[in-house]
Amino acid sequence: MASEEDSVKREMKIHGQRWGSFHHRYFSDPEVAEPLTAAILSSVDAARPDVIADLGGGTGFLLRELLRRRPLPGVRLVDVDVSDRQLSACKDERIERLFASAATFARRDLVAEDGRLLLVARSILHYFGNSDLLPHLRHLRGQLDEGERFVHQSACFEDSGDAACLNRVYEMMGTEKWYFTIDDLEAALGEAGFSLCEVRPAPPLRLDSCDLAERYGLGADLVASIREGAGREFGERPEVFISTGEGFTAWLHYSIFTCRAV
Ligand SMILES: C[S@@+](CC[C@H](N)C(=O)[O-])C[C@H]1O[C@@H](n2cnc3c(N)ncnc32)[C@H](O)[C@@H]1O
Repeated sequence: MASEEDSVKREMKIHGQRWGSFHHRYFSDPEVAEPLTAAILSSVDAARPDVIADLGGGTGFLLRELLRRRPLPGVRLVDVDVSDRQLSACKDERIERLFASAATFARRDLVAEDGRLLLVARSILHYFGNSDLLPHLRHLRGQLDEGERFVHQSACFEDSGDAACLNRVYEMMGTEKWYFTIDDLEAALGEAGFSLCEVRPAPPLRLDSCDLAERYGLGADLVASIREGAGREFGERPEVFISTGEGFTAWLHYSIFTCRAV
């Protein structure tokens, strides 16, 4: 099994019903999702897709939000995920569910030969790790016809020191997730064959160490050593990494990328 799918297995206990209330309800908050749904709907107007596929779509919240904002008659919506528990929590009959990996799905699984496809995603590129980003972006590009779009909200930092700090924290938690700078991600998207139409900021995600401990099964000693180790190496960084008594709080920064296949 690919490493991003191993990551999913490890955190499956917080998938399904629990997901919406986790991390201060970030992933079920319409206000948090608004900049991304607005970017997706602009691309719907520009590209007129027959199918919108949400890669790593989880419980289907993002697709439901799109439908709440606009009924999208005639457009098929597909939630693509490798977590059964997430897909089972997607109960909306207007949304199709596909158990498949963003790393290996094929265009023909989603759309008829003459159909137009729009790919969207929120918070999944970091599952691909440091060395696998480019091949996976190339795979996504390969599933699109020229002119079709990929609109995604991805975790990335303006400052390379902030990205390094979060990468250290995630490495100490024993994950292979990887956070790039905005510049690195833009360069990788270009190299994979996308042209960038727009990049805009999205609300940051607050990560309390008690939630991370539950998500990744961390003991109190490990949490304390992450607090000390990352604090010593990177210092206190407001709205990126701060110590809090026995633990720490970190923030994942996000940007929304509207990309066109070229
Ligand atoms: C951080 S959650 C985000 C869920 C959803 N996009 C949202 O914003 O609420 C990441 C999701 O991606 C899924 N995932 C991770 N790697 C994946 C992959 N290679 N293919 C498909 N889904 C994946 C996980 O199962 C999980 O549902």
